[in-house]
Amino acid sequence: MNQGLLTVSYIGATILFILSLGGLSNPETARRGNLFGVIGMTIAVLATLMGPKLAGAGNLALIIVAMAIGGGIGIFAAIRVKMTEMPELVALMHSLVGLAAMLVGFANYIDPTSTLTGAEKTIHEMEIYIGILIGAVTFSGSIVAFGKLSGRIGGKPLTLPGRHQFNFGLLIVTVLLGKVFLNAHGISAGMTPLLAMTAIALLFGVHMVMAIGGADMPVVVSMLNSYSGWAAAATGFMLSNDLLIVVGALVGSSGAILSYIMCRAMNRKFLAVIGGGFGSDGGTPTSSAGAAPAGEVVAVSALETAELLREAKNVVIVPGYGMAVAQAQHTVFEITQLLRSKGKNVRFAIHPVAGRMPGHMNVLLAEAKVPYDIVLEMDEINEDFPSTDVTMVIGANDIVNPSALEDPNSPIAGMPVLEVWKSTTSIVMKRSMASGYAGVDNPLFYKENNRMLFGDAKKMLDEVLNNLRG
Ligand code: TAP
Repeated sequence: MNQGLLTVSYIGATILFILSLGGLSNPETARRGNLFGVIGMTIAVLATLMGPKLAGAGNLALIIVAMAIGGGIGIFAAIRVKMTEMPELVALMHSLVGLAAMLVGFANYIDPTSTLTGAEKTIHEMEIYIGILIGAVTFSGSIVAFGKLSGRIGGKPLTLPGRHQFNFGLLIVTVLLGKVFLNAHGISAGMTPLLAMTAIALLFGVHMVMAIGGADMPVVVSMLNSYSGWAAAATGFMLSNDLLIVVGALVGSSGAILSYIMCRAMNRKFLAVIGGGFGSDGGTPTSSAGAAPAGEVVAVSALETAELLREAKNVVIVPGYGMAVAQAQHTVFEITQLLRSKGKNVRFAIHPVAGRMPGHMNVLLAEAKVPYDIVLEMDEINEDFPSTDVTMVIGANDIVNPSALEDPNSPIAGMPVLEVWKSTTSIVMKRSMASGYAGVDNPLFYKENNRMLFGDAKKMLDEVLNNLRG
């Protein structure tokens, strides 16, 4: 393939990637967006393989074997992974992008065929230095994020005394090592500062993510997603590959925008998130953090829940992480259909950080074939709770916690939440009184108009459905 055709292929792939991102912003067009991405990536890989750089290199067979092994592992992981484990898988994938950027950086540095001199050589070495730096932070940070999300490492933030000064110190040393690296004569002289910087960047990645508490992990995952994009862009500069630069920049900027949107949804400042120290292990029985338990809870049965629903005209369903764990989305939809067939207005309220990844609830509801027009975002439905008869909260906790608005001392103070307590009756479905991801108590449970339906969401909803039918 000649250079002209390669450029055309790369432009086509870039357009497809942009269309893909556009499609992924809405559940209705997400499938199409995914398809555009797949086609774009296929074109990109084929064009690169057949392009002038690789075609004559004589190692095509090796590349194809490597791609088959990598692709095989990818397909196996994608088939095996449970929806609730998706964020961990994503974090692990980001670590691979970081690792690739690091390896490409080192390979570029020791490349014996390089003939660059003068300013060109300096610029190339700066690209290598920055590429390895971002790659190493992304790699180790993503590995720790994977450990935290999968429960292998505790969610509690590691807050070492003077950690900001420590990080600042690392940054200064990195800049100084960069100067030594650029002034070094010969590969072996440059390798020492390069390896020292890599070790520091790996340490920084670990320290940065260790300092971040459980509740901020979604922002961290999307931030690492952004870093992995910039690492890919840096690799693109190293390899003089325009497509990799553009795609890296697309991933980098979209990850940064997503981080910003999530920070806004949690009412947190991006720098405060990166600074760390917020949140706890999560999933522990409620007690210390936030407001103290404010009285008794009123438990109801599935039969009583069905009766409340039968009498209601306006129903809002708030799904959360527990619905994903219980895989209750199909039963939720059956209940929705039944209630709608009886003329009730049933809608879904989706919090931007419900579940464990962006769009988690939308994906599950789409899988269960819930019509998109009754699935509303928090901003679209929050004002309607006062006119709602029954709100069913299914395995959600932090996203319906009134202390975010009412208690300035709560660790989640200021986070916008779904104001379900304003409806005539709210019913919270969960197995126990345990706290949610942020590890804070939830005063909603003790409100006079709130009822608790204890048990696994799928089991309880099956019972509610049977009672509604009976
Ligand atoms: P959580 O606050 O984590 O609450 C989920 C609740 O579901 C738990 O309190 C749990 O209580 C219940 N549950 C678990 N399994 C269940 C089952 N089988 N049946 C019934 N209930 C079950 O979830 P949320 O309200 O969706 O809020 C999301 C939280 O996760 C936020 O703090 C957010 O910051 C964080 N987070 C979000 C993301 C993204 S991007 N969405 C990513 C990572 C973290 P029991 O144990 O008592 O059943």
